[in-house]
Amino acid sequence: KPIVLSGCQPSGQLTLGNYMGALKQWVSMQETHDCLYMIVDLHAITVRQDPAKLKEACLDGLALYLACGIDPTRSTLFLQSHVPEHAQLSWVLNCFTQMGELNRMTQFKDKSARNASNINVGLYSYPVLQAADILLYQANEVPVGEDQKQHLELTRDIATRFNNIYGDTFLIPEPYIPEFGARIMSLQEPDKKMSKSDTNPNNFIGLLEEPKKVAKKIKRAVTDSDEQARIYFDWAEKPGVTNLLTLLSLATGKTVDELVPAYEDKMYGHLKSDVADAVVALIEPLQQRYNELRADRAYLDEVMRQGAEKAQVRAAATLKATYEALGFIAKP
Ligand code: TYM
Repeated sequence: KPIVLSGCQPSGQLTLGNYMGALKQWVSMQETHDCLYMIVDLHAITVRQDPAKLKEACLDGLALYLACGIDPTRSTLFLQSHVPEHAQLSWVLNCFTQMGELNRMTQFKDKSARNASNINVGLYSYPVLQAADILLYQANEVPVGEDQKQHLELTRDIATRFNNIYGDTFLIPEPYIPEFGARIMSLQEPDKKMSKSDTNPNNFIGLLEEPKKVAKKIKRAVTDSDEQARIYFDWAEKPGVTNLLTLLSLATGKTVDELVPAYEDKMYGHLKSDVADAVVALIEPLQQRYNELRADRAYLDEVMRQGAEKAQVRAAATLKATYEALGFIAKP
């Protein structure tokens, strides 16, 4: 089976964007792939975290993955910091990454512009740790949203460079970016992506938000103020409406072509209320499962323990091969 690896930053506030762009694919890929999914707590400390809150966020994230349908008996589910090989390989790969390459990373540029008082070296080499995450498991495919494409390209470049010098050590991974849903947009400003760190909470929907609040946010979403309030799919002309149609399609499993004709003579309000219903129907059962799982710490511990054990065996094999290739002497 082809190998899949992906991760999200620890947060109970994963958004509908994270779900549509990543988690939804993670769940369905379990049928056909050998999957590893992690919570990237090492990445999280590139911005300041409150220790008590970080702990909760990791448990929240874990319970949320499970509630979305990640099955720990089929997939390997773990915390990044439980497998020390991530940090170890990351150091090695730092030595095969050029500063010029990292200077071009748009996510680094955005994050450092937003947080000028803490542009730390970890934030800078964030994509190198991400490359280590992927290459450690010889992953064939990496399911992510559109915004991670550049990091995936860098991962491929680093791996290719290493292989060219030392011989085949890493498999060159492919990004798996869904054709549809890879970029869910903000509700109030549909020209930018939906993000959990947005300062305006009306811009995003958290998977654990109260359904009533979710419906309200959707009903308040901006639509497009052209002359005729027509409902059709067009990112350039109708970004707000198109984002809502995308959500409706993903939440109901119907294609946009199937959906649009039903809105021929309808108003924006009809569309919004259908989207609200569909999204609530998606998240309500998910929240129920989440609440049960989140209350069962013993179970979460068991999932973490087994996941880390399974992951580490595989990560250790790649790290060993890498050290050998570099000429490090194995501990006698
Ligand atoms: P993170 O935590 O920012 O986001 C997790 C996943 O959600 C996707 N995503 C979206 N998809 C569609 N529409 C949106 N509005 C939207 N917002 C976020 C992201 O593309 C991502 O797939 N660097 C990664 C975490 C990471 C990782 C890895 C991923 C660390 N190591 C190794 C894959 C493989 C990140 O910050 O994700």
